[in-house]
Amino acid sequence: MTNKLDIFKCNVCGNIVEVVLSGGGELVCCNEPMELLKAKTTDSASEKHVPFLEENGEEKIVRIGSTPHPMEEGHYIQFIEVISKDHKWVKRKYLNPNEQPEMKFRCKCENKFDAFGHCNLHGLWVNKFEGEK
Ligand SMILES: [Fe+2]
Repeated sequence: MTNKLDIFKCNVCGNIVEVVLSGGGELVCCNEPMELLKAKTTDSASEKHVPFLEENGEEKIVRIGSTPHPMEEGHYIQFIEVISKDHKWVKRKYLNPNEQPEMKFRCKCENKFDAFGHCNLHGLWVNKFEGEK
């Protein structure tokens, strides 16, 4: 069972896929069922993964970590993604080590979206914005 925009990972080869549109089948990779990634919302360590939002006029900036997450070769944010609450639009930015863990975008939307960040070591994180920053 899949749902639109679910993110799955293969724990054998590391493939990560997102469901564009849902069918009825089970996702399988390397002959194993793929794992549905459940985004975490709370940091317990000093290292920060929860996305937060800044605004500068119509420009919105999603940053990973209230203190910036490391962006080193072995430990970095691989992508940031924003999905509107109504699942009408998706914005994703891929990142490389040594880049800033942030995504800037413009929309005249209200802040009704979920912002995700994926750390290569610590997995998927989300912050859900309900219209307020
Ligand atoms: Fe991390």
